[in-house]
Amino acid sequence: MTHSPRKIIIDTDPGQDDAVAILLALASPEDVEVLGITAVAGNVPLPLTQKNARIICELAGKPQVRVFAGCDAPLKRKLVTAEHVHGKTGLDGPQMADPVMPLQEGHAVDFIIDTLRREPAHTVTLCPLGPLTNIATAFQKAPDIVGRVQQIVLMGGAYFEVGNITPAAEFNIYVDPEAAEIVFKSGVPLVVMPLDVTHKALTNRARVEAFRGMGSEVGRMVAEWTDFFERFDMQKYGSEGAPLHDPCVIAYLIKPDLFTGRHINVEIETQSELTLGMTVADWWGVTKRPANALFMGGVDAAGFYTLLTERLARL
Ligand code: BDR
Ligand code: CA
Repeated sequence: MTHSPRKIIIDTDPGQDDAVAILLALASPEDVEVLGITAVAGNVPLPLTQKNARIICELAGKPQVRVFAGCDAPLKRKLVTAEHVHGKTGLDGPQMADPVMPLQEGHAVDFIIDTLRREPAHTVTLCPLGPLTNIATAFQKAPDIVGRVQQIVLMGGAYFEVGNITPAAEFNIYVDPEAAEIVFKSGVPLVVMPLDVTHKALTNRARVEAFRGMGSEVGRMVAEWTDFFERFDMQKYGSEGAPLHDPCVIAYLIKPDLFTGRHINVEIETQSELTLGMTVADWWGVTKRPANALFMGGVDAAGFYTLLTERLARL
């Protein structure tokens, strides 16, 4: 069956796994049309995330993609970064030249607002791969756009895996819990890829060698990013590889059947110091709180890596 590609905005803080997600989207024009990429502070500060987003577009051979810089700090808190996972640049691993393609003028938040007002209602999907600061700021600044969003498919949170940046919280939600609360209470249909899914989407030797074996610049870079990114989770969890968190969002748009989940209520902890940023997910339906998210729990990891390898080989 033919279908027109879904229009998306990727909101991101690259990050090696963000990079792979962006490459997957740019390699899949029949499934997703990337209207723009909006950078946010997260894994590393904004000057690096917006630069990294442009490096990735150039690597994909798509310097015409529009990249905007957004918020440089969470709504109410000091920025927490993750150089201990992603390295000083956010994309540590291979050597990379500075990008030549320009950063777009204007703020990412205004791009999100203008795009949602310009495109027909319910035709634009937001894909947040980092802290939710840009999205929440857009919703606060222009409440009229909230009802126009088709869907938000995001990476963030955890239930069974609980947390990675703290014992209770996943990084993207923890960095800006107030922004996450705005998004989770917005009423926009949400699809959430938590750690419960991404910790099942692990690299292994064969999967990384499949990237390297592509013989392309993209294959080599993805393999080298993964080599770097893996060491943290392998040491921490004793796992064979690392979770490619953010590509799960794009893979869902291309092949939703790879994932299974439940329509449940998810609330964000914004008060407790101990459990700040926790996604309190009513997986077992023990409250009467209304469902606000399709919260994923399972992934066909082999199918996910087959898709990833097939698509990246096109670039
Ligand atoms: C998330 O945090 C970042 O480090 C990754 O890019 C991913 O978006 C995983 O917790
Ligand atoms: Ca990310």
